Amino acid sequence: MARDKVVLAYSGGLDTSVAVRWINETYNLDVIAYTCDLGQGQDLEAIRQKALRTGAIEAIAEDARNLFLDYFVFPSLAAGALYEGKYPLATALGRPLIAQLMVRVAREHGATAVAHGCTGKGNDQVRFDVTFQTLAPELKIIAPVREWKWTRTQELAFAAAHGIEVEATQASIFSTDQNLWGRSIEAGILEDPWVEPPPETFQWTTDPRRAPAEPAELEITFDRGKPVALDGRPLDGVELITELNQVAGRHGVGRIDHIENRLVGIKSREIYEAPAAVVLHEAHRELEFLTLSKESLRFKTLVSQAYADLIYNGLWFSQLHQDLMAFTVSNQQYVTGTVRIKLFKGHAQVVGRKSEHSLYRHELATYEEGDQYDASAALGFIKIHGLGQTTQAKHQLLRGDTGPRLELPRIIPPAGSGPESPAPREEAPGL
Ligand code: ARG
Repeated sequence: MARDKVVLAYSGGLDTSVAVRWINETYNLDVIAYTCDLGQGQDLEAIRQKALRTGAIEAIAEDARNLFLDYFVFPSLAAGALYEGKYPLATALGRPLIAQLMVRVAREHGATAVAHGCTGKGNDQVRFDVTFQTLAPELKIIAPVREWKWTRTQELAFAAAHGIEVEATQASIFSTDQNLWGRSIEAGILEDPWVEPPPETFQWTTDPRRAPAEPAELEITFDRGKPVALDGRPLDGVELITELNQVAGRHGVGRIDHIENRLVGIKSREIYEAPAAVVLHEAHRELEFLTLSKESLRFKTLVSQAYADLIYNGLWFSQLHQDLMAFTVSNQQYVTGTVRIKLFKGHAQVVGRKSEHSLYRHELATYEEGDQYDASAALGFIKIHGLGQTTQAKHQLLRGDTGPRLELPRIIPPAGSGPESPAPREEAPGL
């Protein structure tokens, strides 16, 4: 009798290979291995073949790079989404897409379950599970690594007993993940936040000390917040990001060292390499300075943070996201133009910007000929603008006959105080 089927997110690594056989035995399910290319630069066919050798009844690998960029990465760039102001969210953006594609495969194949190789300590399990629960509540979720709770030695023993190939690279000291939007490196020596990442941490970026002695200059063109051309050459998303990762990486741009607040309450030390993401966020923000009003810019920082948090926290398929997206699209309608950026020894420095919708008006800014600004209007404006503060200084701050008005009360009672011996309340003078 045919067994029920599960669709497993398969990377070709040790965990998900062991998971194939572990699921066979533990849940008595046939495994369909699913791999999608988000630009991680691996040989998809080799991964597919390995899945089949390992015991999957079917192995599917597909290219989702354009979907990833157009529906996930570029909207997050337009929204200015950097988690805690630092992390461009490569992995966090990939998870909901992978989960969504797995749900489609599960339905096409009549599978009753989905599975992923995430541990129980990270954010990725949350992103996968929440997406599955949202899009396909009928599917059972299996998370072998979270469930088997093995040490590495036990896992290797299982692999050996089942003839599962273990590649030398899997003995790697770091835990990494990567796609077109960036690469993350954690664990090993990096768990000490005092330790500078050793050279072997990095694969996409040159050590800034060894970067070219001459800067590279790039022109990046945006259309309503989306990057569309490099140096005047229109490129599709994959070409543009790939090229930018290479050139910025060569100049040592894109290294990020982040003590990050995970959703599950842990602070972790994460290293990222995200050359294209760093350059594009920098350039995009600069074009916003030119084309958005002061009020829009200030409000946008709230949206950027909310957007980054919902991506990080696995809430991509939410109404809040839809709402923030509506704001972002409207907010980006004039963010069209070109930014000139210099890459040099680890730095990306904007040196020029232009837009047909620029709010920088030479006739207002200039100190030279052609000034249209009415300086005489400044006088009355300044008086009204400062009125609140001058009033306060006169009647409070600078009155001269009052000392400090208040001492802040404690929020934690001193040790030894209890219900029968209430702590003496320190009255603030004058209250
Ligand atoms: N800390 C980052 C995040 O939560 C990167 C996670 C990388 N995932 C991995 N399985 N290595 O998005």
